[in-house]
Amino acid sequence: MKINETVEKALNEQINRELYSAYLYLAMAAYLDDLNLPGAAHWMRIQAQEEIGHAMKLYDYVVERRGRVVLEGIAKPPAERKSITDVFESALRHEEEITSHINNLVDLAQEEGDHATVSMLKWFVDEQVEEEDSVDTILQKLKYLGEDGRSLITLDRELAQRQG
Ligand code: FEO
Repeated sequence: MKINETVEKALNEQINRELYSAYLYLAMAAYLDDLNLPGAAHWMRIQAQEEIGHAMKLYDYVVERRGRVVLEGIAKPPAERKSITDVFESALRHEEEITSHINNLVDLAQEEGDHATVSMLKWFVDEQVEEEDSVDTILQKLKYLGEDGRSLITLDRELAQRQG
């Protein structure tokens, strides 16, 4: 069944949020590169790629349901941050916001009786649990280790290991 206009519009808005997420994480990568933390920057670059993957998953789904993908402008992400801890705190807040949007999308698809979209969104519901957890794990480490040089070098080496 062709996707209805309400769900189509909401999915297009989510495509924009996922692309903004990629842009936001790339800006965080640039900040971390500037701090000379290449491992943390690498982690954020991979995160940015993942967000493009999320956007494309929604894009492909809209096309599959004979809907129309409409791309809007992507907002400018903040360039300046206070510290690496501030970066990961902002990332966690952002993921929590994205989780709320995904939950709202599920509610909307349910109200519209669109079972296929509810089913497709299940992947995003599960993914958000992982997204929040991976950022929170890094944040907890930062809190325990602190931001002295030795701790940051250790953490940066660990973050450099992230696979795409
Ligand atoms: Fe696409 Fe990080 O949520």
